[in-house]
Amino acid sequence: MKKILAGLTLATVAFTGMAIAQDAPFAREIKARQGIMMYRAINLGVLGAMAKGEAEYDAAAAQKAADNLMASITLDASMLWPQGSDNSANPASTALAAMWEEGSGIGDKAKAMADAAAAMQAAAGVDLASLQGAMKGVGDGCGGCHKAFRVPTN
Ligand code: HEC
Repeated sequence: MKKILAGLTLATVAFTGMAIAQDAPFAREIKARQGIMMYRAINLGVLGAMAKGEAEYDAAAAQKAADNLMASITLDASMLWPQGSDNSANPASTALAAMWEEGSGIGDKAKAMADAAAAMQAAAGVDLASLQGAMKGVGDGCGGCHKAFRVPTN
């Protein structure tokens, strides 16, 4: 009985894997990059809550969130963004094909984000005012890219 159950579980896993590979183009890449984005949002949320006074300023926690944010940006995730893996290929993605077009400016957006995250990394652990001062740059870094390269969500 145990063997049959184990066999069934394996079959289910194999089948699920196949379904993902066959039915939804770039499903794994999309899932992985969305996870990285969510990780950014969670860490930005920690900083934002302190900036708005919804959470008490905690230098160590702020520094950690800023370090995490930076790590998610310096991470080489280029293999998660193959050409053609946009919203028209798989509606699970909200990425616009424009992102991959020649001269799209995606590199500039990524650079602006990295600069803003570095500024936050230098500021977050100093004091609340410094954190607050770096907040807009980071928000603009996220928003600047989303506005240009994501399907509008509202
Ligand atoms: C250089 C461009 C770029 C930057 C910078 C960027 N994003 Fe994104 N983000 C995207 C794209 C493109 C998608 C859509 C990905 C997909 O669905 O395939 C996305 C999706 C998301 C999502 C939705 C994830 C999901 O589950 O569908 C969240 C949340 C998010 N980003 C948060 C952030 C935050 C927070 C920042 C800033 C700290 C940020 N992003 C910076 C391009 C960017």
